[in-house]
Amino acid sequence: MKFTTAFTICCLAGVVFAQGFFPVMPIPADNPQTPEKIQLGRKLFYDARLSADNSISCSSCHQQKFAFTNAGNAVSTGIRGQKGSRNAPTLGNVGWRKSLFWEGGSPSLELQAMGPITAHDEMGIEPSVLVARLKGIPEYSKAFSSVFTDGLTMLNITRAIASFERTLVSNRSPYDQYLAGDQKAMSKAAVRGMELFFGENGDCFHCHNGFNLTTEALHNTALQKTNPDLGLARITNRKSDEGKFKTPTIRNVALTAPYMHDGSIPTLEKVLDHYNKGGEDNPNADTLMRPLGLSKTEISDLIEFLKALTDVEFTRDPRFAAPK
Ligand code: HEC
Ligand code: HEC
Repeated sequence: MKFTTAFTICCLAGVVFAQGFFPVMPIPADNPQTPEKIQLGRKLFYDARLSADNSISCSSCHQQKFAFTNAGNAVSTGIRGQKGSRNAPTLGNVGWRKSLFWEGGSPSLELQAMGPITAHDEMGIEPSVLVARLKGIPEYSKAFSSVFTDGLTMLNITRAIASFERTLVSNRSPYDQYLAGDQKAMSKAAVRGMELFFGENGDCFHCHNGFNLTTEALHNTALQKTNPDLGLARITNRKSDEGKFKTPTIRNVALTAPYMHDGSIPTLEKVLDHYNKGGEDNPNADTLMRPLGLSKTEISDLIEFLKALTDVEFTRDPRFAAPK
């Protein structure tokens, strides 16, 4: 369907308003942010002593320079060289995500952190072993006693890490500058790409929308003919949920190849080819997965828009880097 110019402008203006608005970050009542707690969480995030053999930290798989992903790796490698089965998502704006993990299986950052710490193929350490280990490090026992009334516990380890993660805000991309009124922040090609993205021709906005460019909903984007990773069906056991994954934010996506929950698509060009042909013939394919008929120029414009979502300052911000 073609829109008249007037409608497109009014519609885009509406979209622009909604996109530029970062809501207040939700903070759990039992884990208020404090500067000391955030610093403690940051230290833990970068500390390989949180893994069974002292070799892997959260930052091994979530690297700041790649917007806190494991770019270059389709799946990540945990302790003893063990390979996982999924691609590490960005932690940019993760404090706003409604659920965590690709199938949305974890409701909070505090609970989520338990996953990698204890998973045998990631950091592989028992909570009791970790707590005892950190209690033996005077810096940590001191810091935990000053931050938490009940001192060093597993729950407080995850609380501190979650507090640090809530500071990982990415909102300084050329796209953000454009929305704030700097017309020159994005190239003409990127602006055309944005219009396609938020229009019915590109159709991306039905799933990638709002300030973080995700509706948070789960979809099957027809990556393959079958669904080797059950996705949402892991939780619901429903056949129709097989292969459904949480819509990722696509902020900083130019830094995070390869793509998708399994890291199976190596480049943005190939991601666009996938959407343009409407995906594979999958029984659970989302109805929005249909051939788009985008031209080569339109595809390259869309990619220019995706590149305008790169927030270089986020990847260099010293507040998010390993503590000295
Ligand atoms: C061995 C690599 C590895 C390590 C170590 C690791 N992660 Fe991850 N992380 C991943 C992968 C892979 C996923 C996706 C897993 C899934 O969805 O099943 C993930 C998912 C996440 C998510 C969910 C993001 C979202 O949008 O759904 C958060 C948050 C996260 N990790 C934080 C952490 C923290 C905090 C640590 C340290 C305690 C950590 N990770 C350690 C690889 C790793
Ligand atoms: C039906 C909802 C839907 C539509 C429409 C859609 N996406 Fe997605 N997008 C998703 C989901 C869900 C994923 C993750 C799929 C997976 O990993 O299996 C994803 C993944 C991506 C990724 C990879 C992100 C990463 O970190 O791996 C990019 C880039 C992307 N989409 C861009 C687009 C563009 C551009 C369009 C429009 C041409 C679009 N999407 C249309 C839901 C959608």
